[in-house]
Amino acid sequence: MRRTFDLRLVDKRRIPESEPERQYYFMDIAKEYVRQLAEQKGAPLTFYVKTFGCQMNARDSEKLRGILEYIGYVGADTEDADFLIYNTCTVRENANNKVYGRLGGLGRLKKKNPYMLLGLCGCMMQEPSVAERIRESYPFVDLVFGTHNLYRFAELIVTTFETEGMTIDIWEAADRIVEDLPQDRSYRFKSCVNIMFGCDNFCSYCIVPYVRGRERSREPEEILREMKEMAEDGVVEIMLLGQNVNSYGKTLEHPMTFAELLRRAEQIEGLQRIRFMTSHPKDLSDELISVMRDSKKICRHLHLPLQSGSSRMLKRMNRRYDKEHYLALAERIRAAMPDIALTTDIIVGFPGETEEDFEETLDVVRKVRFDSAFTFLYSRRTGTPAASMEDQVPPAVMKERFDRLLAEVQACAAERAMALQGQRRPALIEEINEQDGALVTGRLSNNAVVHLPGTAELIGKIVDVELLECKGFYYMGRIAR
Ligand code: SAH
Ligand code: SF4
Ligand code: F3S
Repeated sequence: MRRTFDLRLVDKRRIPESEPERQYYFMDIAKEYVRQLAEQKGAPLTFYVKTFGCQMNARDSEKLRGILEYIGYVGADTEDADFLIYNTCTVRENANNKVYGRLGGLGRLKKKNPYMLLGLCGCMMQEPSVAERIRESYPFVDLVFGTHNLYRFAELIVTTFETEGMTIDIWEAADRIVEDLPQDRSYRFKSCVNIMFGCDNFCSYCIVPYVRGRERSREPEEILREMKEMAEDGVVEIMLLGQNVNSYGKTLEHPMTFAELLRRAEQIEGLQRIRFMTSHPKDLSDELISVMRDSKKICRHLHLPLQSGSSRMLKRMNRRYDKEHYLALAERIRAAMPDIALTTDIIVGFPGETEEDFEETLDVVRKVRFDSAFTFLYSRRTGTPAASMEDQVPPAVMKERFDRLLAEVQACAAERAMALQGQRRPALIEEINEQDGALVTGRLSNNAVVHLPGTAELIGKIVDVELLECKGFYYMGRIAR
């Protein structure tokens, strides 16, 4: 039913060569197709973008949504939409399984809706075996693309409209950074901004450098311009994103440190809070610590992935720091900013991890007293050096260590959270509470969550909140009098 157009709109002679002009040319064509389809259908076409991965992935989804809206699709609340996109993640095996687990059902959904298009993109698509499997086992998928050509989404949509069968376009590397494409922010008062793409660290367990490509920093002027425009548009909190923000700017024509970028971001009028993710312990500078300490806008939160507390494991993980370095760093950070929240990522069961190595991890958790920690079971990723290491840890041992680590992490987190009970802190109110409509939910500078009585008018505002009761991972509070 779809693709019965009375005209082919792309005029090859008129396609602009430069970006983003080229994409705007295709967006205008896509807009005309969408208009015609909606006319046939007798209702606006709808879209839904499902994000499976990290903040980087979520930010990409905002760009996809921006383009879909620009060309005339209307956002839907469920996957039963005319254009469904899965923006996938592949950092651990279960991320992939989640996608495969749902794909089968989508075939049935598509049969019911002749207008439905199904697109798959994101990190998982950059794995060669995945595109192959989709081609063979899920022929009803219309569009498959990767992380490097996401900026060409508009062009890919037009190709999908104009061709029968599956469109697959996956690039091995990125060719450029394209600025100024549409975006649809999830919140009007807070947003993420990419400061760099890719990763060059090649931690031996991690697939990200293979699916996101080489590290590339955006020009500081572009970043600051985007932040300024957001602030003028009412954004009060911005999270700067990169796999390793501490190595920002090293490869720019005019190199700039991350600390310097923050110093400049601090000057942006109207912007009230700055966050960033993720910091690699090997590159975290004293300059950054002092910029944070002296800043009124940078939030009191540092996510500093530990991965393991054992220097022997860290070496095998290619993390390029050891236990002592991490402990000393955490101490310097806490000494400079006693109220900072330190959070972390920890992997349990990396190949060769012994009981002694694991005890070292517990030791760091006890010494640093993290405010929260994401704990992961090691997942073997094809193509990474760790996948072919000997002494893979048996699942039962991994699970047993995981449970012990979780108990320790939760105990530390609860103790840290309790320390703020009864105090007064500013919170950015983000939404109406999901369970109780009489409450709103806000976030403290240290990233902790507080629920308090309030109405929708408070959303997007920073208010002083009394933290009446600590409930372990969050607080119940009220607006301070
Ligand atoms: N760039 C960030 C992390 C990105 S991935 C950093 O370097 O800290 C997010 C987290 O997923 C990592 O910190 C790590 O703890 C976890 N992770 C990555 N690969 C993994 C694997 N193969 N198995 C289990 N956890 C993994
Ligand atoms: Fe993966 Fe390491 Fe890069 Fe983080 S720094 S994305 S863990 S390779
Ligand atoms: Fe993020 Fe997953 Fe890709 S963690 S970078 S979406 S592999």
